[in-house]
This record gives sequence, C-alpha cells and structure tokens, in this order.
Amino acid sequence: MNDRPVIAVLVSGSGSNLQAIIDASERREIPGRIGLVLSNKADAYGLERARKHGIPTAVVDHKAFGSREAFDAKLVEVIRASGAVLVCLAGFMRVVTPVFLRAFPHRILNIHPALLPSFPGTHGPAQALRYGVRFSGCTVHFLDEGVDTGPIIVQAVVPVHEDDTEETLAARILKEEHRIYPMAIRLFLEGRLTVEGRKVSAKDAEKIPDFSRRNPDV
Ligand code: GAR
Repeated sequence: MNDRPVIAVLVSGSGSNLQAIIDASERREIPGRIGLVLSNKADAYGLERARKHGIPTAVVDHKAFGSREAFDAKLVEVIRASGAVLVCLAGFMRVVTPVFLRAFPHRILNIHPALLPSFPGTHGPAQALRYGVRFSGCTVHFLDEGVDTGPIIVQAVVPVHEDDTEETLAARILKEEHRIYPMAIRLFLEGRLTVEGRKVSAKDAEKIPDFSRRNPDV
C-alpha cells in the first residue's frame, strides 16, 4: 500500500475534486495515494473530506506570511516532507510564485473550469456565460508561471444551455472535472505524459475508457 507514489492535493474550498481523486485512488483507478491534503484555509471542507479518509492534512494560512514567496516556501517545505511526487491543485485559490513552481518542475497539475485558453482566472463559468459561448468545459494542465497558461493534458466539453445560471453551468462543468482530473493523474503517474513546448503527448491514452469522448450530449 505505502509503496504507491504519493500525491499532495491543495484545496481552498469544498474539495469535490479532491473527493474524486480520493475515490479514484481507493478504487485503484490511479496508481498513487494521497499522502497530504493542504489548505490555506483552516475551514476548507476539503480538509474534512481528507480526515474522513484518514489522510494527513496541513493548514498554511497565507495571511500569516509577509510575501507570496515566503508563503510558497512554507508550502514547499510541507509538501516535500510528505514525500509527494505529484502536486495537484484542486480549487486552490492562490496564485503561486516561481519559488513553488521551481521546487516541483513539471510535477504540478491544475484544474480549471473553462476550456483554456478561454476564461482563465476566477469565475470561469460566469465568464463563459457573459461571453455567450455555446460550449464550455474544463481543463487539466501543467502549472507554469502564467495564470492558467500551462500545457494542456485533458479537456472536456459541456454545452451551455439557454437558461443556465453560473451555478447550473458550474455544476455541469464540475461533473466533468471529476472525470478528467483522475484521468490526467493516472496518465502522469503511469509515466505516459511527455511535454514538448506547449504540447503534451499522452501515450496510449485512447486505452483509457472515455478519454477521447469529446462530443457532449446536447
Ligand atoms: C472547481 O470548479 C475548480 O475547477 C475551480 O474551483 C472549483 C473548486 O471546486 N478552480 C478554479 O477556478 C481555479 N482557477 P472543488 O473545491 O469542489 O474541487
């Protein structure tokens, strides 16, 4: 059990993506185990989810640090102590600095609730609604020094309905997030991803059920 590679998951809120990763790990659909759930908020529900599954947790409150770099240095220290080989941001609402990025080169994934490069930053579903797009979705990507600009690993598309609100669209997108984040983690931990410039190749990805499902039911 404990020889499975360790994943650290960073959350700021509800942690439903964290739950999807926990479930996938417990079902052995991904070859790793979560060895740390870290939050910048002591009351993040994601921490409670972790405790329910016996997963070690940590809180590093960004407000206790004088600079983003000092906060990131502490994150790095705590994550390194967990032995994590992969860091997954799952609704972690802090912009990280090069101090964090350079500590885990090509080993940090992020999930974003839009079809990047459209609608980066916060409130992806609301931005999509305001813009009037017919389709939106979600993206798992490697983190780089920009905001939601890193090389893309997996995306999923959902339709935007006439009567959608931010909440209904976000919920439709979130369901797909829960499907593709474990998929991307599996590809990473199985060593199937190679990155050349912006382009990520995923060896034998089509063998993963549902990987190439692109057309939403409209
Ligand atoms: C998810 O929709 C995630 O994509 C988004 O926050 C939500 C967290 O939900 N992240 C961002 O917007 C990052 N820019 P969760 O806590 O239930 O996983």
